[in-house]
Amino acid sequence: MAAVTDDTITSEVQARYSNAASPRMVELMTKLVQHLHDYAREVQLTREEWLAALDFLIRCGKMSDDKRNEMMLLSDVLGLSMLTVMIDQKVPAGATPNTVEGPFFIAGSPELPMGGDMRFGAPGKLSFMQGRVTDMNGKPIAGALIDAWQADQNGLYECQVGASDAYLRAKFRTDADGRYCVTTVEPCHYSIPIDGPVGELVAATGISHERPAHIHATVQAPGYQTLITHIFRGGADYIDSDAVYGVRPELIIFFEDHEPGMTPAGTISTEPFSTVTFDVVLAPAVAQKLAAE
Ligand SMILES: [Fe+2]
Repeated sequence: MAAVTDDTITSEVQARYSNAASPRMVELMTKLVQHLHDYAREVQLTREEWLAALDFLIRCGKMSDDKRNEMMLLSDVLGLSMLTVMIDQKVPAGATPNTVEGPFFIAGSPELPMGGDMRFGAPGKLSFMQGRVTDMNGKPIAGALIDAWQADQNGLYECQVGASDAYLRAKFRTDADGRYCVTTVEPCHYSIPIDGPVGELVAATGISHERPAHIHATVQAPGYQTLITHIFRGGADYIDSDAVYGVRPELIIFFEDHEPGMTPAGTISTEPFSTVTFDVVLAPAVAQKLAAE
């Protein structure tokens, strides 16, 4: 091989990655090289900028752990997370759409009974999220597993308040009629974390760093496509400028206010509370492949 030139380096690098055993790996790597090199040429990347980018990624990685994912947050504010959802997690019309998972999901949440209280001492207005999980024909799905998580009234997640145990997150199972009910607090809008490298990006570019009020949930049942989604509070601030581009019209739901009295969880509340009904329609697992074609 002759020494590479700025005209030949891209094809030379691609040729080396073309020997991978997996055709998909060949495609992923040769296209990555193509677009990275095109980017560097187009912006005439300087050594200082390249080093700053590497340092930025290193610091995003160092800030990430099992409760905070700065790399995911970076992907989110670049719109890459939502684009991947729209490419790879399509569902047929009529099924509840996916949206971004976000950087705050924590595995291993405790499972609570119907109507269980996932506040665990979190401050905020008492609220209940309830609904039914059905298939695309309206047939209830019993035993579906709902894993919910959200921020408190100050817009803070478990890792941000330093809670040692579960805080505003829990799992629930649907009953024989597909119903579920969650006791929680009403969500409010919040800023994505700006105390790390992504915050530096926000400061340097002026991009939106606010998210409209929402509750996260995944819904799983055997034979159905796993749903990773949110509900967004109807009328919430920032609903048109979500920092991570996650809003979908089908996921905007209005909360209803109630005076003190009987709650959907069968408890008596001495304070006003709100309710939101989020009915979930799961796509059959086979539809994941069909929708993508
Ligand atoms: Fe969130």
